[in-house]
Amino acid sequence: MTTRRSFSETLIHVFGAIITTVMAGLSGVYLMSPPKKHNGGGWVEAADSAKLKIGAAEEVVFERTRVDGWRVSKEKASAWVVKKSEAEVIAFSSACTHLGCAYRYDDAAKNFICPCHTSAFSIDGQVLSGPAPRALDRYEVKLDKGRVMLGDIREA
Ligand code: FES
Repeated sequence: MTTRRSFSETLIHVFGAIITTVMAGLSGVYLMSPPKKHNGGGWVEAADSAKLKIGAAEEVVFERTRVDGWRVSKEKASAWVVKKSEAEVIAFSSACTHLGCAYRYDDAAKNFICPCHTSAFSIDGQVLSGPAPRALDRYEVKLDKGRVMLGDIREA
């Protein structure tokens, strides 16, 4: 025979099991979901293609949206942009692939030089010398009515 007391205890155990199951499910969804994209997944206008010289590298500074967990903020970023032709523009992350120093473009030598440990990269981003383990990381690039649009950074 079921007493009022045992019925209440059973009800409490059932509710406890339901709450535990729901919380475990929500935690699993949170832990298994992929992290949000670094720049918010959007394209950012970085330069006017008409103002870039073909065959030269130019550093451009732009503002992008950064998504870090639940926090969304604006930040300044930079890229090295190379206009290869009227129809093709490539862009590199401004961080050296060795330890992340900011590198510069040597216009006379037509290559990139990192001042930290002297890695050198061709104007196409390939390693010429130094300790850098791989080519420069590239931004996704698209041209939109003459505007150079940058997307996510892809590892070389
Ligand atoms: Fe650029 Fe080391 S950080 S060569």
